[in-house]
Amino acid sequence: MADQQMSAETLRPVVAIDGPAGSGKSSTARAVAARLGFAHLDTGAWYRVLTWIGLRDGVDPADAQVLNSALAHFDQVVASSFGADRITVGGVDVTEAIRTPEVSQSVSRYSSVPAVRDHLNHAFRHLAATTSAPGLVVEGRDITTVTFPDAAVRILLTASVDARARRRAAQLGSDDVAGIAQRISERDARDLTVVDFANAADGVTLLDTSDLTLDEVTETVADLVAASTTKEHHE
Ligand code: DC
Repeated sequence: MADQQMSAETLRPVVAIDGPAGSGKSSTARAVAARLGFAHLDTGAWYRVLTWIGLRDGVDPADAQVLNSALAHFDQVVASSFGADRITVGGVDVTEAIRTPEVSQSVSRYSSVPAVRDHLNHAFRHLAATTSAPGLVVEGRDITTVTFPDAAVRILLTASVDARARRRAAQLGSDDVAGIAQRISERDARDLTVVDFANAADGVTLLDTSDLTLDEVTETVADLVAASTTKEHHE
């Protein structure tokens, strides 16, 4: 596994971005990838796809045999949908379905199983090693610490619960900022039982986006990538 990570790293730079829901992680990862011409890997979307399959098939995460067959199905979906605009599972377009509250609330049933995390991390490293893009921006919760601890650039995006709730409310056209903040806190608490993404690990750059625009965050991340490339050339 370590060899595979190293070779993925030497061949193509990985920009690893972790952070909680609503920190601006996805918008930033997408914008940075577009700017650098890199591929974008939203690992949360893939945890959601596995969960969608699990819910549809009534997969008990404690039943190893059933779980393995769901993971094999998952691998087929990754192979056919990674890089595509839409994600399809057995001919069903699940691009929107994986974002429903039912899926969001059920992810941790599967994502907390170590065999699931190992399997998905292996799939993510394989994508990094085989993408035809010159680099990859990967976003998630444990990308800087577990999936790509040797990534060229590692960033933890944070934002206050209030800032995240205000952004979400604006997206939804809702004025219930307090209710949204409550749900964000509950989601953080649930996600934090699986992975600690609240603290930046050694060598990870902490970037608080509470008072920054998307353009400012994108600029900062792109600068970090440029600085890492310059540093590499001087080593
Ligand atoms: O980023 P998101 O909110 O779409 O992630 C969906 C879920 O997947 C969320 O419950 C956290 C989980 N996740 C994870 O456990 N590890 C990752 N690398 C990415 C997401």
